[in-house]
Amino acid sequence: MRKPLVMGNWKLNGSKQMALDLVTGLKKELTGVEGCDIAIAPPVVYLDYVQKLLSDSKIILGAQNVDTHLSGAYTGDISAAMLKETGVTHVIIGHSERRTYHKESDQFIAQKFGILKENNLVPVLCIGETEAENEAGQTEAVCAKQIDAIIDLLGVKAFNNAVIAYEPIWAIGTGKSATPAQAQAVHKFIRDHIAKLDANVAQQVIIQYGGSVNDKNAAELFTQPDIDGALVGGASLKADAFAVIVKAAA
Ligand code: G3P
Repeated sequence: MRKPLVMGNWKLNGSKQMALDLVTGLKKELTGVEGCDIAIAPPVVYLDYVQKLLSDSKIILGAQNVDTHLSGAYTGDISAAMLKETGVTHVIIGHSERRTYHKESDQFIAQKFGILKENNLVPVLCIGETEAENEAGQTEAVCAKQIDAIIDLLGVKAFNNAVIAYEPIWAIGTGKSATPAQAQAVHKFIRDHIAKLDANVAQQVIIQYGGSVNDKNAAELFTQPDIDGALVGGASLKADAFAVIVKAAA
C-alpha cells in the first residue's frame, strides 16, 4: 500500500520570519497526522534554518533543485552531498519552471536523478504537458518521453524509492486544477507505462498530482486510486490551507 506524500514547493518565496511562522503553524496543525508523509521545500538559503525548526517534527525537509556535480569549480551550483548534509531527503527536479526558464533537458534532468540516487536522496521528478500539447492530445507522449529519459539512463528500477509529480503546466499557478478524472487518467497511464517494464516498481512508485491544488479541491483529487498525494505551490505558503491538504491525504 502506498503512503501518500504531500510536499510544499515554496518556489522563490519566503523569509526567515515567514519560515518560522509557517513551520510553527504546520507543527501545531499537523502533529499526530500519521496517514501521509509531509515535506516542505524552502529556497536553498533557508534549508539549514528550517532543518533546525523541524528537528522535533516528522515533517521531511526537501529541496527545489540539485546540480550534477558534487563539488568543484561550479559557481552557484547546488551539491547533492551538501543537501544531504543539511538534512534534505527529497529533491524536486524537472520542474516545468526549470525546464522552461533554465532550458533543462530530459537528459540533464536524468543526470540529476542519477546523482540523487547515488547519494541516497529521493528524486521528486516533475513531468507534465503544456496546454498546447494537452489540446493536441500529446499528454501521454510527453509524459512517456520524460519518464523514458530516466529509464534510458538509469533503468526502470531507478524509480524504486522515488516520486513522480504529474504537473500539467496549464494547471500550475492558474487556479485551474485538472479534474480528478483527468489527473487519474494520466496517473494511471504513468503507472501502466512503468509497469510494462516492472510491475513491482510501478505499484510502489508514489505519483503526486501538482497544479493548483488547494484546501477546496484536494480531498476529491485524493479519492483517485493512482493519485498518491500532491506537490503544492501557492497553497503550501499558508499553514492552514496546507494542513487541510495534508489531512485530506492522510
Ligand atoms: O511544484 C508545485 C507547483 O508547480 C504547483 O504550483 O501554485 O499551482 O500549486 P501551484
